[in-house]
Amino acid sequence: MRICVVGAGHVGLVMAAVFADLGNQVACLDIDKEKLASLRASRVPIFEPGISELIDRNQAAGRLSFTTEYAEAVSDSEIVFLAVDTPTGSDGRADLKNIRSAAESAAAHLSDGSLVVVKSTVPVGGGSVVREIVEANCPPGKRVEVASCPEFLREGSAVADCLKPDRVIIGCSSPEAVPQLVRLYAPLERPLIFMDVNSAELVKYAANSFLAMRISFINSIADLCEQMGADIAQVIKGLGADTRIGRHYLSPGLGYGGSCFPKDTAALASASAEAGCRFEVLEAVIETNRQRIPGFVERMKAALGGLEGKTIAVLGLSFKPDTEDIRDSKAIELVSGLLEQGAEVRAYDPAAMDSARVVLPEPTYCPDAYEATRGADALVIATEWNEFKLLDLERLRDLLHQPIVFDGRNIYQPDRMATLGFQYVSVGRCPH
Ligand code: UGA
Repeated sequence: MRICVVGAGHVGLVMAAVFADLGNQVACLDIDKEKLASLRASRVPIFEPGISELIDRNQAAGRLSFTTEYAEAVSDSEIVFLAVDTPTGSDGRADLKNIRSAAESAAAHLSDGSLVVVKSTVPVGGGSVVREIVEANCPPGKRVEVASCPEFLREGSAVADCLKPDRVIIGCSSPEAVPQLVRLYAPLERPLIFMDVNSAELVKYAANSFLAMRISFINSIADLCEQMGADIAQVIKGLGADTRIGRHYLSPGLGYGGSCFPKDTAALASASAEAGCRFEVLEAVIETNRQRIPGFVERMKAALGGLEGKTIAVLGLSFKPDTEDIRDSKAIELVSGLLEQGAEVRAYDPAAMDSARVVLPEPTYCPDAYEATRGADALVIATEWNEFKLLDLERLRDLLHQPIVFDGRNIYQPDRMATLGFQYVSVGRCPH
């Protein structure tokens, strides 16, 4: 099939590459000329396992192309996916200007019988806005359809998630109205769930908010464990063994970050308030998450007798492992908090140092974890990259000025740390 993906961000790029690899002819469009030039030269602007190989292979095979021209990308495409970003506006609501402009630009070039699919996360009603724009701007006499198909892939496992989604949510008037989408997804052999457009849009916000709620919930239970002398690892084991609850999204730590959970929870809370039904549970989820870093910095301050003039080694800057993305990263928020308290920071991350330098020039960026640790008064684990789990802990202990580790992601075993002579502060675990 011929398809067009508007937006070469994380979602757009991964989708474009995956669908090209499944044998479709894919044109990926973006207005950022520099980004497209890099992509054409096989320099992939995102860190995502497996994506470079897919892009190389499919560009070489002539199935994947990159363009800034709507006429070239949209004409003859059976499906046009809109996968542009919907950032948070100053009022906390999703800002639809990018998707409006993409819909308007694409509409003029749609062919008869084509389908426009909203992939971007848009608030309920966003699909209707896109429909109005498409109908008002498409060539007269052409029949076009608009549907919603929210994306659930995660950064760091995006290619695998895109190939094997738990379900594909399709918001449309009826399955018969979107045969192209059914054909495109058929080779994935995953369940397709059809519903109206508004419901499909709400599924996306509800899913991200629900997962964020699990994280804030378990973080609050971890705080309780510390106060009550319980161990969060044991509690999660018992809690997660209930099949109604499960183990997913119950890792405690510094809170959730990234470009999605903070944005989508804020957007849903603000849309709910506007609709006259305040979503108090969600507001508490957001507030609990907001308190994670200030609370952790306070703990560090208390344990170290103040942070002024202390040198802190921070391992991890990205919002989670396996990505270079630092958007709304709790690790970055932590570094800022430490700097505000007068600490000096020596930082290391396997992939995110270039992006971190741009927003935070103050820390000393080090070539590896050991260099970051050399001479520091304490070490903090801020992102649970696998390479930090396998560090030589005895070497780290000897490099530290004093053997204190604050583990914001619970990657080490308290008993082992105690045996090695560390003062070890982790999240919700006993003994501390
Ligand atoms: C999230 C959703 O998981 C995807 O389904 C969705 O498609 C995506 O948002 C989106 O809306 O585009 P992502 O932001 O890539 O994906 O990252 P997650 O792996 O879900 O992690 C989000 C944050 O929660 C990270 O900061 C992570 O460290 C934190 N987290 C996750 C925890 O603190 N504890 C957990 O148990 C799980």
